[in-house]
Amino acid sequence: MCGIVGYIGSKQAYPILINGLKRLEYRGYDSAGVALLDDGIKLYKTKGKVADLEEYVKNKDITGTTGIAHTRWATHGEPNNVNAHPHLSESGDIAVIHNGIIENYDILKEKLKKLGIKFVSQTDTEVLVQLIEYVQKMEKVDLVTAVQLALSQVIGAYAIVIISKADPDLLIAARKGSPLVVGIGEDEFFLASDASPIVEYTREVVYLDDEEIAIMRRGEKLQIKTIRNQEKTPFVEKLEMDLNHLEKEGFDHFMLKEIFEQPKSIRDSIRGRLNLNKDRISMAGIIDFEKEFLNAGRITFIAAGTSWHAAKVGEYLIEELVRIPVEVEYASEFRYRNPIIDKTDIVIAVSQSGETADTLAAMQLAKSKGALVYSICNVVGSSIARAADAGSYTHAGPEIGVASTKAFTAQVTVLTLMALGLAQKKGTITKERFDHLVNELDMIPAKVEETLKISEQVKEISKIFTYSRNFLYLGRGYNFPVALEGALKLKEISYIHAEGYPAAEMKHGPIALIDKKMPVVVIAPDSVIYDKVVSNIQEIKARKGKVIAIVTKGDTVVAGLSDYVFEVPHTDELLSPLISVIPLQLLAYYVAVMRDCEIDQPRNLAKSVTVE
Ligand code: F6R
Repeated sequence: MCGIVGYIGSKQAYPILINGLKRLEYRGYDSAGVALLDDGIKLYKTKGKVADLEEYVKNKDITGTTGIAHTRWATHGEPNNVNAHPHLSESGDIAVIHNGIIENYDILKEKLKKLGIKFVSQTDTEVLVQLIEYVQKMEKVDLVTAVQLALSQVIGAYAIVIISKADPDLLIAARKGSPLVVGIGEDEFFLASDASPIVEYTREVVYLDDEEIAIMRRGEKLQIKTIRNQEKTPFVEKLEMDLNHLEKEGFDHFMLKEIFEQPKSIRDSIRGRLNLNKDRISMAGIIDFEKEFLNAGRITFIAAGTSWHAAKVGEYLIEELVRIPVEVEYASEFRYRNPIIDKTDIVIAVSQSGETADTLAAMQLAKSKGALVYSICNVVGSSIARAADAGSYTHAGPEIGVASTKAFTAQVTVLTLMALGLAQKKGTITKERFDHLVNELDMIPAKVEETLKISEQVKEISKIFTYSRNFLYLGRGYNFPVALEGALKLKEISYIHAEGYPAAEMKHGPIALIDKKMPVVVIAPDSVIYDKVVSNIQEIKARKGKVIAIVTKGDTVVAGLSDYVFEVPHTDELLSPLISVIPLQLLAYYVAVMRDCEIDQPRNLAKSVTVE
């Protein structure tokens, strides 16, 4: 949450910073600000989005070859002009941007106030910049040392970038728990919360580790030290990122573009893992720990939101195919409930961003209890990917829309490959079943492509439900997590209350909600429990609910009972979530469009949840 960008070099900083903020706006969009440094610090910040900041700085002096910029997702203090970043020290000589939370900010603030330091905002960030200035003055040290000393007093998570009027050739950055990437250009440095603002200028990057400080001095080489002043050798990596992923490419919204990218992102997630003869699956991360996986007493997934839903599909797949017991835990619960975990456990963190604070903390807890910790992440080089013992990347490409779509199907694809690969190794699947499932998986990208053709039909039906106040989503077996996911998508972007339920649970409570105004989305593709779902639909119709059904092409029974029907291609039930989720993503998208909602940046949300 919060996007941060920095630049020092020979170019004008402002255009680089503003473009960077636009790339990072998915991380927060309550307010935005920029500080530019030449003779002094020029500070511009405002409530609202990056576009509001651009408007605000029109006709103002935006020169400077060093600068920092920030787009905020408010934690401490309401989103307004004063609480917007960057924040200045009392003298106005030091400016800081910050992503994260300083947990002991109130104790530090009280101390500083007693020393006569005045505060203007309600943020924890201002405490940090005041502390740095105070330490620098009192200890009579250089800025790097002051940052080190100040950070050693801080409890919490941060990624910060600092500039000082006294040293216009210096940019300092530090991280703990929140991501920060340094881009190395020709006599210039870039800094950002992720690589997307950097990739068009340089492909050489260094991902900072926790408690590291990057010291970027104009004309000099990158220097990295720890908070305890240990020198580190920068580990330079090459960025592989397709710039097209960062543009809307003619789509009205990133979310729609990302929905339509799914045939490719699923294909990319399969590529290289399924051999040409389709008789073997190899996943690098698993090969290294094959013995541990095959002998695991239990697999526990930790995740949040959409990634939790993908993990739930993973539970069904692994238990059915590999016969290893699986638990799926909300990372936020797991981390605080003293779970029983030991060396025989494998804990798998599933995360698109690879930065979710709860998931990261839950993995650290699992590690401390001796479990092997694996990750399934989309963002290369992210904190979760780096903290794991091993892992697999989903190859969905950057996901910009806040509502997760292609990341979900890529996660389910990787989990399917994992389950099939382990089942083959463990001998818990017959050759016929393996061959069948692998062939079906290989056909999924084409079937998703075919499913996307119902987009116009979904759009038409969305018009009927634009003003519904509630939705119920029902699914069973592999499509129960899809029901949860469909409801989450609708809630997030259209602000309509929606609940996902296992279809048969409906009669234990939610059935009371059903009347002629209640749309009920029933996911009812071919499955072993198809007949049971038919009975559930009859129960809804008996109470005059409006049924929108997702059915397999050619279905007549459910289609005959339902008010509206979306037909999807046939696949094996185990793979059906990869297809049945598509109409639900489209439904959420079009309902939100009809309601004139902010699709890619829904209110109160941010894509990368780096706070608890
Ligand atoms: C839903 C959504 C969120 C995320 C959740 C976990 O559309 O985007 O629910 O799925 O915040 O995020 P990651 O996967 O980045 O750990």
